[in-house]
Amino acid sequence: MNRPARDQRSFARAIGGAFALSAAASIGLTVVYALGGQPQIEGALIGASLGGLALGFVWWGTHLLPQGPFVEEREPLTSAPAERLAFTEDFTRLAQETPRRRFLGRMLLVAVGALAAAAVFPIRSLGPGPGRSLFRTAWRRGSKLVTEEGGPVAVGDLPVGGVVTVFAEASVGVADSQTILVRVDPASFRPLPGRETWSPQGYLAYSKICTHAGCPVGLYEQSTNSLFCPCHQSVFDVVDGAKPVAGPATRPLPQLPLEVGPDGLLRAQSDFTEPVGPGYWNEGS
Ligand code: FES
Repeated sequence: MNRPARDQRSFARAIGGAFALSAAASIGLTVVYALGGQPQIEGALIGASLGGLALGFVWWGTHLLPQGPFVEEREPLTSAPAERLAFTEDFTRLAQETPRRRFLGRMLLVAVGALAAAAVFPIRSLGPGPGRSLFRTAWRRGSKLVTEEGGPVAVGDLPVGGVVTVFAEASVGVADSQTILVRVDPASFRPLPGRETWSPQGYLAYSKICTHAGCPVGLYEQSTNSLFCPCHQSVFDVVDGAKPVAGPATRPLPQLPLEVGPDGLLRAQSDFTEPVGPGYWNEGS
């Protein structure tokens, strides 16, 4: 049953209002987000935006579109010329863009466009790309090894079996630079190929950040030359490039190349040559 023209105009205005409400809420959402965001207000605005669209669609469908019931006889399958003519006229008439349809179509476009713009805006939250920052720590060529108290480590400071946490000088406490320094008997191991000069006088330095989930690997067992991670019990073999020999870690702890300076202090030859810490972000690369 078709509604009187006056009712239809009222509903068209109401539907346009619902789409306008949706558009205004989407614009408000964009503004609130740009000003720093506020979860409750953003949630309310998303609700108003989607709710306005939903309300407009429901009213459009229930009040302005033909309501039926529609009955179509199956037989005969071919239409009589008069029926075809009537259909063509109906189709042509309904396909014509009336002012009301144009108005509602534009309001719908505004509402959907505003919502799409508000949805695209949070891409900014992804922030800048990490670039090479994940591959760098505070260690540099010639950096002195210093303890947590800031004192340098001289070549005679640690006995065989000794262990201490060290940082690059001037970067004490920097999380990604924490390194565990172990001294082993130089006769008890063979450096890995390419690392022959990295462990002067039995000093081996490895990133202290577990390659499984980032806990500090701080427990050393001298009898087995093993480093233990207390979080999930990964075990790393100190004299075999800190390869994991037990537990969930799958990647060795990155090794810091060391040298002894002319002043007898331990120094880094360079930064770590591979990223420290868990490698979720690096998987597949
Ligand atoms: S964080 Fe070290 S084993 Fe899980």
